[in-house]
Order: sequence, then structure tokens, then C-alpha cells
Amino acid sequence: MNKTELKTPFFMIDEEKLIANLEKAKLLKELSGVKLVLALKCFSTWGVFDIIQPYLDGTTSSGPYEVKLGYETFGGETHAYSVGYSEDDVKEVAEICDKMIFNSQSQLAAYRHIVDGKAALGLRLNPGVSYAGQDLANPARQFSRLGVQADHIDPAVFDTLDGVMFHMNCENKDVDAFVALLDAISKQFGQYLDKLEWVSLGGGVFFTWPGYEIEKLALALKTFSEKHKVQLYLEPGEAIITKTTDLVVSVVDIVENEVKTAIVDSATEAHRLDTLIYDEPASIAEASENGKHQYVIGSCSCLAGDQFCVTQFEQPLKIGQRLHILDSAGYTMVKLNWFNGLKMPSIYCQRQSGEIEKLNEFGYDDFKRSLSQWRVS
Ligand SMILES: Cc1ncc(COP(=O)(O)O)c(C=O)c1O
Repeated sequence: MNKTELKTPFFMIDEEKLIANLEKAKLLKELSGVKLVLALKCFSTWGVFDIIQPYLDGTTSSGPYEVKLGYETFGGETHAYSVGYSEDDVKEVAEICDKMIFNSQSQLAAYRHIVDGKAALGLRLNPGVSYAGQDLANPARQFSRLGVQADHIDPAVFDTLDGVMFHMNCENKDVDAFVALLDAISKQFGQYLDKLEWVSLGGGVFFTWPGYEIEKLALALKTFSEKHKVQLYLEPGEAIITKTTDLVVSVVDIVENEVKTAIVDSATEAHRLDTLIYDEPASIAEASENGKHQYVIGSCSCLAGDQFCVTQFEQPLKIGQRLHILDSAGYTMVKLNWFNGLKMPSIYCQRQSGEIEKLNEFGYDDFKRSLSQWRVS
């Protein structure tokens, strides 16, 4: 398969870049003793799990289907967490997970009898402190429903728990800031942690970011786990797949209304939702900071403000030209939707050998099927 012949839009996952991230994960594990479970909410493209699986210890999930997917396609340890389980969810999930982590003491009390003897029991705690750029993604925000606050804890609960989970980071590239959070947790919850077998520190620790001091992170994790005599886990998502994947699109039109907008055959709302939700412009491989030709890279959805970014190019863009939207793996493929009936990007992986493997493609039937399967007659 030749890349230039593939029809846009498509995602291209680069195995070599993925392995570079995974090697950093391996180093972190070796230096610290931490176990790493892939956060499926961020990346669930199981067609490349053969690349990731040898490096990580398993998966963690945020809903019942992710648990099943992790169990079926990844193996290793299967952690199950949900902000809110139904009784049916708990019954299904308890059969296949290794650890069941409840979000509240009320859910724990209601369903622990279903899990007892099948999986280890965990509870999410909310440390009340966090590192997150935006309030929307801040687990410690005011009135947060995510986990149990320190002053709400019934200490007796720890006598019958195996572990706890904290998640309080979002794209944290600052190791010192993470260590400060770890210290805060140790001070606030240390007496409880000492009774447990494991503690998960959640995701959002960007240890694959260029220049990140992995050794410093590893030392802090090791010290913490020795102090409280617990097996530590991290739940990386974005750190594993960051900078591995392009969303490749074509310019289908160029319009001008005071500024030039190149309209591409994709939309943030359908194919790269976080660009819109978090108002974080995408980067384009072909752009050039000092280029004289400025364009809005506009989506082909009907939403007026739907655009990938505003950026400059050395040469004017042409219709039919391809653009590579960088860093498009995390929280993209898991959030694809059919808004506007746009064509869904195919998903490919470029192996280290140079070979291109097709992992998925979608057609009109998938769109139609996602809307109804039966007509009311
Ligand atoms: C509980 C939990 N674990 C892990 C993650 C993964 O985070 P990231 O992809 O930033 O590493 C998240 C993200 O929201 C989360 O809520």
C-alpha cells in the first residue's frame, strides 16, 4: 500500500514513534517498579495492541465495554472503573476484571457483594488537589463528583478494601508538580494507604514529553511505594500515544471572507473533538511559522466555528493538497462520530518495516446502522 494512494481522510499511526514512547514507559517501570495500565478511554484502537501489549501490564477502563475490550484484546491486568455502574454492569464486569474500582462509597456498599471473591476491590479518592489546565478536565474542581473527598471518608472502609485510585493530573509535564501532589496524597491519606495492597495514581502524567525527567519521577514513585508498602500503578493514555499519529486530510475548497479559509474533508466536531471541546488548535505538518500565506484550516461540518487552526504556509494552498494534522491519536478515534454524515477517516498503521496495514475503514452502511437498524412499521 502506498500512502499517497490512500483516500483521505485517514489516521496513520506510526509504529516507530509508538515504540519510542513505549521504551520510555519501559524505563519508568524498570526504575520505579510501577505498573502501567493503558487508559482505553484515550486510545482503544486494538489493531495495534500487539505493539503496546509487551510493554504494559494491562488496561484500565471507564465503562463496561472498555473492560470487555481490554480483557478480550489486550489481556494482562484488567482494571474496571466507572463513574457510575448499574447493577447489571457490575455483574458483567466482575466476571472479567481483576480490579473493580468504585467511584463512591455508596456504589461500593451497594455492589461489593457481587464483586467479593471475583476481583480485588478499589475505591476512587479525590485528593482535592490537581494539575489540570482547564476546569472542564479538573477532577478536583468545585463540586466534583469524581471520587471520595478526604472529609467524607468512612475510615472503616479501608479494612475491607484492596486498593484505591486517584486521578488528578491532566497533561502534566512538570515532574516537580507531580511530586508535590504525591506528597500531598501521602500526608492526607497515608494512614489509610498503609492498609492497602495497591494504589493507582491515575493518568495525565506526561512522562514521554521531550525532556521529561523520568528518573526523578521514578524515584518519587519508588519512595512512595516503599513508604506505604503498596504496589503503585499509573494509568497512562495520552503519554503512550502522543505524537504518534497524523490525521491526513485533503483541501476541498478555499474560500475568502477577509481571511482565507482552506476547507478540508474532515471536521473537528466529528473526527478530532477535543480541538473543539478544549479550544486547543491543531498543528499542521506542512505549516511554516514564517510562511507568508495564512489560512484558517476549516472543517467541512456545518458548525460555524468549527476549525482546526489558523496557520501559515510558505506557498499558497491548492485544492486537492494533503495536510497532516499532527498528534491526532489520543481522544480522537475513541470519539469519532457521524455528525453531518461526513465520511469517517480510515485507520492505518505504518509498521517499522514501512509496510502500511489497514486497521479499519467505514462506509455508508456503518453510518446508517449507527442511526437505526429497524424501521417502525
Ligand atoms: C481515571 C483516569 N485514568 C486515566 C486517565 C488517562 O489520562 P491521560 O490520557 O491524560 O493519561 C484518565 C483521563 O481522563 C482518567 O480519568
